[in-house]
Amino acid sequence: MDGISVVKLGGSVITDKSVYRRFRLRKTQDIAANLRKTGDRMAIVIGGGSFGHILSKRHGIPGAITPDRIEAASAVHSDMLDLAARVGRVLSGSHFKPYIFSTSSMIRNGRVDCTPIGEYIRKGFTPLLFGDTYISGGRIEIYSGDRIVLDISQNLKPDMVAFLTDVDGIYTEDPKKNHDARIVYEVGNDEGIKATGEDATGGMRLKLDMLVRIRKYSRHVCVLNGNHPERIALIGKPGFIGTVIS
Ligand code: ADP
Ligand code: IPE
Repeated sequence: MDGISVVKLGGSVITDKSVYRRFRLRKTQDIAANLRKTGDRMAIVIGGGSFGHILSKRHGIPGAITPDRIEAASAVHSDMLDLAARVGRVLSGSHFKPYIFSTSSMIRNGRVDCTPIGEYIRKGFTPLLFGDTYISGGRIEIYSGDRIVLDISQNLKPDMVAFLTDVDGIYTEDPKKNHDARIVYEVGNDEGIKATGEDATGGMRLKLDMLVRIRKYSRHVCVLNGNHPERIALIGKPGFIGTVIS
């Protein structure tokens, strides 16, 4: 294959979201190996999981700038750099050539300036970006990984965009809270989907909004379970298990 893809590795997959800074190394290695097998050139975006959300939530980020939040935002940014470095090493182990971009340094006029990303991909690198804290006016904000995927997609018009999360796809409601929830294999908008958002960046509710917007820039947008990385090989093929945005 010769396509360009954008892949979001959800914090719910590459970290244990309930334990501060717990990285899921083996899971991430499995995912990297399966991404490598696709043969696609790609940009990879990582979410915060327990490297981003726990401290943010504890210190009220997003919120107005205070000395406490400055200290916390600095710590979250360092933790995210650490997570990106760990994921980068895993990607190198699968023969990618990762190149970490610090998201907060790339924000211009309220969005990430993705101009360099395409060039790095064409030269053989795998740009790696991460959800991050940043300063805007009198506030400390969070730029989510999902939002970065939107910005990159708008700029690159990728052939495929995949979100790896910790459930099989988008359900009629949160499958962890209601066992009657049913997976929706194809969604065109967020009608009929109940989504809860509990983390610092709005969880599944915001993700759905983003997915629908991203679909304007890519023919194939999907959500699948990163805990079953072998499903990556079936993206866009018969037998795919996950949700496709139509
Ligand atoms: P990630 O960290 O992978 O970016 P999030 O934690 O933001 O993902 O969102 C995934 C979580 O959203 C799932 O673990 C699930 O419990 C929850 N969720 C809430 N509503 C839904 C829904 N309608 N369909 C699927 N998951 C949902
Ligand atoms: C959040 O990024 C980044 C920070 C909290 C700094 P995401 O919102 O994309 O993270 P996940 O994937 O839901 O964990």
